[in-house]
Amino acid sequence: MTMAALSALLRGDVSVREEARLDILADSIRRNRFLPEPDPESVFVGDGDYRAIGTEFLKHFVRLGGLKPSDRVLDIGSGIGRMAMPLTQFLDEEASYDGLDPVAEGVAWCAEVITPFYPNFRFARLDVAHPIYNPKGRLKGAEMALPFPDRRFDFCFLTSVATHLPPDEVKAYAAEIARVLAPGGRLFLTAFVMDDIARAGEGRDPRCAFQRTAAGPDWHADPAAPFGAVAFDEGFVEGVLQDAGLVAVRTRLGRWRGIEAAHYQDILLAEKPGTAA
Ligand SMILES: C[S@@+](CC[C@H](N)C(=O)[O-])C[C@H]1O[C@@H](n2cnc3c(N)ncnc32)[C@H](O)[C@@H]1O
Repeated sequence: MTMAALSALLRGDVSVREEARLDILADSIRRNRFLPEPDPESVFVGDGDYRAIGTEFLKHFVRLGGLKPSDRVLDIGSGIGRMAMPLTQFLDEEASYDGLDPVAEGVAWCAEVITPFYPNFRFARLDVAHPIYNPKGRLKGAEMALPFPDRRFDFCFLTSVATHLPPDEVKAYAAEIARVLAPGGRLFLTAFVMDDIARAGEGRDPRCAFQRTAAGPDWHADPAAPFGAVAFDEGFVEGVLQDAGLVAVRTRLGRWRGIEAAHYQDILLAEKPGTAA
């Protein structure tokens, strides 16, 4: 525990105490040798430390997204459980977690390793086509319907998923997310937003040298593999969320563009208007 966390605990300040609790939980997740991890060879969701990235996002979900232990959570593009695993240590038994992903191996690993111990964590395959992740998918992303009833979730997130999608799929997801979120429910989404700093390119991560390849709002890091990393014009994602009936709450810029930040990709937060029941 850090000195700041310890002194916060001793001061007894409630919000600071919650912060300190979260730091303690994150530390214990990072050090827990009994939490399973997939074989590194089978991790298809990007480089970096699987456990550390999942734990980092748990903190962002709580601090920025207001995630609560009893929330009903939807993870779109759940991959191979990188976000789900730390959430098993945060969500309580009243909560639920549903993960959807097109990659059968990722869904199968999570269903075998997580669900038997945490039955309120469920994983399902969404056979949506994607040129990299699921080239033979039966469903078109832009026509996709989420397999859940209206107002089913309190918190929905997409981490490093909109960064691989074309604009019409982001629109389709926004409409579906607006449908399945309960009033007062929150959306947490990561993206690459092409603001002035990102366009200027100074200090930007060289892997993110996005170029426009067509007339749309999307930019691609590698025109030969456009869905390897996609950025959007500033305001595009916020506009799409608004058109879907969500209220964009804030955008937090990430360090990929060369600025100091607590996260790499940009984080967008939106809310469905109304009061939770
Ligand atoms: C970079 S990985 C991120 C995975 C996970 N969100 C994480 O942060 O660990 C991108 C994920 O998006 C999934 N994906 C690709 N196209 C998708 C789509 N149309 N709908 C939902 N998920 C999709 C991929 O299968 C992959 O698991």
